[in-house]
Amino acid sequence: MSKTILGISAFYHDSAAALIRDGEIIAAAQEERFSRKKHDPQFPERAINYCLEEAFIDPSELDAVVFYDNPLLTFDRLMKNFLTVAPLGLEQWTKASRSFLGVKAVVKEYVRRTLGAEIKLLFSDHHLAHAAAAFYPSPFTDAAILTVDGVGEWATLTLGHGRGSRIELLKEIRYPHSLGLLYSAMTYHCGFKVNSGEYKLMGLAPYGQPVFADRIKECLIDVKEDGSFRLNTEYFGFMQQNVMTNEAFDDLFGGAPRQPEAKITRREMDLAASVQAVLEEVMLKLARNIKRLTGSKNLALSGGVALNCVANGKILREGIFDNLWIQPAAGDAGNAVGAALLANHQYFDEPRKLNPSGRDSQKGSYLGPAYSSTEVRAFLDRRGYTYTRIADAHERAKMIARSLADGHIVGYMAGRMEFGPRALGARSILGDPRRTEMQSTMNLKIKYRESFRPFAPAVLAERASDYFELETESPYMLLVAPVRESRREAMNVEDFESGHCDDMLAIINQPRSDIPAVTHVDYSARIQTVHADLKPDFYQLIKEFEALTGCAVVVNTSFNVRGEPIVCSPQDAYRCFMRTEIDLLVMEDCLLWKNEQPDFKDTQDWRAQYELD
Ligand SMILES: [Fe+2]
Repeated sequence: MSKTILGISAFYHDSAAALIRDGEIIAAAQEERFSRKKHDPQFPERAINYCLEEAFIDPSELDAVVFYDNPLLTFDRLMKNFLTVAPLGLEQWTKASRSFLGVKAVVKEYVRRTLGAEIKLLFSDHHLAHAAAAFYPSPFTDAAILTVDGVGEWATLTLGHGRGSRIELLKEIRYPHSLGLLYSAMTYHCGFKVNSGEYKLMGLAPYGQPVFADRIKECLIDVKEDGSFRLNTEYFGFMQQNVMTNEAFDDLFGGAPRQPEAKITRREMDLAASVQAVLEEVMLKLARNIKRLTGSKNLALSGGVALNCVANGKILREGIFDNLWIQPAAGDAGNAVGAALLANHQYFDEPRKLNPSGRDSQKGSYLGPAYSSTEVRAFLDRRGYTYTRIADAHERAKMIARSLADGHIVGYMAGRMEFGPRALGARSILGDPRRTEMQSTMNLKIKYRESFRPFAPAVLAERASDYFELETESPYMLLVAPVRESRREAMNVEDFESGHCDDMLAIINQPRSDIPAVTHVDYSARIQTVHADLKPDFYQLIKEFEALTGCAVVVNTSFNVRGEPIVCSPQDAYRCFMRTEIDLLVMEDCLLWKNEQPDFKDTQDWRAQYELD
């Protein structure tokens, strides 16, 4: 009997809902996209309603609702942590216990109120949900499963084995020993926001040298040959209070944490490079260990640390496994999918059906809402915004490609929204990667953010190996690989590397390859391979760009301003278009030019609306 199951992730970070039917992911979305609050931790009422609408079902048709975490285990951890460090942890304890005492009853009440019906409520273990999110949507019948995050209940990392419809967790590492928390501690120390700035730290690492790596391994983390590790908690603040690091940590690295928005110095670059090097070393050891334990030729990854696409690329290139699949919503949002699939296969004992095409079952992660041309036009007509409709898909792709080739920046909204943190051509801002100035233009005039971060290339799948040293698909932008040597250009980094100057802009504005806007300072790139069967409109657009320019790559960055969740609706997209220097907005088959729009009266300063991340 096929089952319809709703998965929910909530109350910690990045709430989400997912709906599966007969083992197929029908819909999945993060609450932030609807509430417009980045990483919204609230109960995902809007995301749940969207999932039900997408599946055309009434709540009473649900066989079960599954919560992504076992609150009793989380509560147990918080209590034991309190007993270990009391009275230092009193403040943290009081805060946490308020939210976790009775959380099962709270979840039950929210579910009853949102769905208006009594439905079987199940609770999944946190890392089992991560493992399920990694394995079940993957194309593998047999895979080693590695889940790595900050902490979920007690575990911070698990090694598992997936076979057919079953998942078995073989080993775990427990709080406070956490690779994710180590990386987050350094993120905090370098002046970035915990739980979102980790990606920036990874982007900063190529500017630095790993000069602190030995100190990290001597003092902060004791790593064994099998990849298991222990943190030295004397240097961290998260057990005692709500901060990541303490004075001992500051002393170890020669000073207080960088203040957010302060100038980034060589120290932060070197710290980023150092913690990244340690993370990669541990991940490679873990990958070798889990290979030994399972004998599988496939690896499935999830947990927030699996978003570290530089480490993922290293695992791939090391050749430990033949194949690698990473859950695109690797953080806790993805556990909404994982928990629902876990209930389907391990609670209801439903068999697993692999995608007959040989692909994964994540559907390109285009699992969110779409807006039809009729809906877009109704919105534009109602507001009196000027647009041109080009119904012919081929003509439209040609027009957008021409605009990109002319140096314009394009806001692109087409089809179902992405599930997970990366924009994959459904809610993206696009540009011409051949232009040296494109990286700083897009950073400063569109994203309003630090300009050191590179953009990602979206490349026609069959042309990827012409540009990058990558022999596999990367449809979810979760692998980093080097730009081909033949495309690189020598950079003048002598002053920078010798420490005479730490001005990153001097490097950023130098051409590094024939696609400079998507080439990092170490010649790496965070690649999205674009596939005709997964995203035909985006594929066609790049194909037209290639026909015009010979270049099969476009710059792809998420459609939002700094601190804003990725746009979801036509209204969100139009607002972002008018607030930034995007030249052309495409919403389905409607094209809008900035210079043809009526005066935009912004009722709110977006800089005040969104908390900078
Ligand atoms: Fe997690």
